[in-house]
Amino acid sequence: MSPVTFDAPASSSTSHDPARERFLAALPAEPTWEDRLEARSLPLTTRFTLGSRITGVQQAFLDEHGFLVFAQVATAAELEAMEGGIRDLERRWLSEGRKTVYGIPLFVGQDPEGNPFIQRFAFSSCFCPEIRAFVRSERLLPVRSVIGLNTRVGDEERDGVVFNRNLNVPGSVYTGVAWHTDALRDVFYMRTPQRQLNVGLHFDRIKKEDGGLRLLPGTHRQGLWSMCTTMPHFVSQKDYANEVAVETEPGDLTVHDGRMWHRVVPSPHMGWRSLRRSMYVPYLTDEYSPKSPDSPTPAYHHLFVRVRKAQGALSKLGAKLRRRRG
Ligand SMILES: [Fe+2]
Repeated sequence: MSPVTFDAPASSSTSHDPARERFLAALPAEPTWEDRLEARSLPLTTRFTLGSRITGVQQAFLDEHGFLVFAQVATAAELEAMEGGIRDLERRWLSEGRKTVYGIPLFVGQDPEGNPFIQRFAFSSCFCPEIRAFVRSERLLPVRSVIGLNTRVGDEERDGVVFNRNLNVPGSVYTGVAWHTDALRDVFYMRTPQRQLNVGLHFDRIKKEDGGLRLLPGTHRQGLWSMCTTMPHFVSQKDYANEVAVETEPGDLTVHDGRMWHRVVPSPHMGWRSLRRSMYVPYLTDEYSPKSPDSPTPAYHHLFVRVRKAQGALSKLGAKLRRRRG
C-alpha cells in the first residue's frame, strides 16, 4: 500500500497553489449573530445541503448543537461502488482467515443464511480504492475545512476509515453501540481529549423506528469530569427525552463532535431488513501517528472483544430459549 498522502495544502506556501486556494475558498463562513439566532430556531432534525462552503447558519448550528446532517452527498453509483469494494474485501479477508487489520480486530458475525459476515472493517480505504477516492473528493472539502486548514485523511491512523455493517441475527456481535463519547479514546492514549469531528456517510434509509444514530445535543461542550462521570461508556442504551434520532437517506453525510454523547440503537427488525451500513472517516489535524501491519491491538479493543463474545453468547442463548418457549 502506498504511504499516507498529506493532501492538505501547506500553510506556509505563498506561491500560486490551486489546491490550497480551493481549500481556502471552502473555509466555513464566520457566523453572524443573525446566523446564530436562525440556527437556534431550526428544528434539530434539519437536513442541510452541502454547498461549496459551510454557511454561517450551518457553522452556528454545529457550534450550538454539536452536529450537522447533510442530505444526499454521495450518489447512488458511488454508494454501490463502495459497497461492491467492501464485498470484494470481505471475500478476500475471509479467505485469508484474517483476524485483525493493523492490530484492530475484525468483527465477524453471521448473515441471515449463516455465512460469515464481517461487520466492522477498519482501515477500509487502505484496501478499497473506491473508498479511498470518495473520502478525498472535492465535494467534501467544505467539511474538511471545518475540521482544520491542514486536514488529512487518516487512512492508516487510529482505526482508519471504518465501514460498519450493523445486522441483527441470533448471535449477532454488532447490532448497536451503547452511549459513549469518542473522546474517551484520547484518555486511553493518555492525552487530553480534543475537538474531533466524526464524519459519517450513510448507505441506508433509517427512520427513528429502525434504530440508528442517537445524539445528546449540546453535550460536546461538557468537560472531562462530566465525560467520565455522567454514565459509564459503552454500557447503557437508556432513552433520554432530549436525545435526537438522526434519520438518514442513502448518501447522507453526518458530522458530529466526538466529545458529545452518542449511541447506535439496535434495529428492532431481524435479518437483512435490519442492515444498517455507515462509514466513518477520520479527518485529522493532530500529530501524524500511522499504524502498520505490525501494530499491537490497543488495550480497549481487547476489552471490546470480550464484551462482544459475551453479548454474542447471550444473544444465542436468548434465541434458543425463545425457540423452546415458542
Ligand atoms: Fe462513537
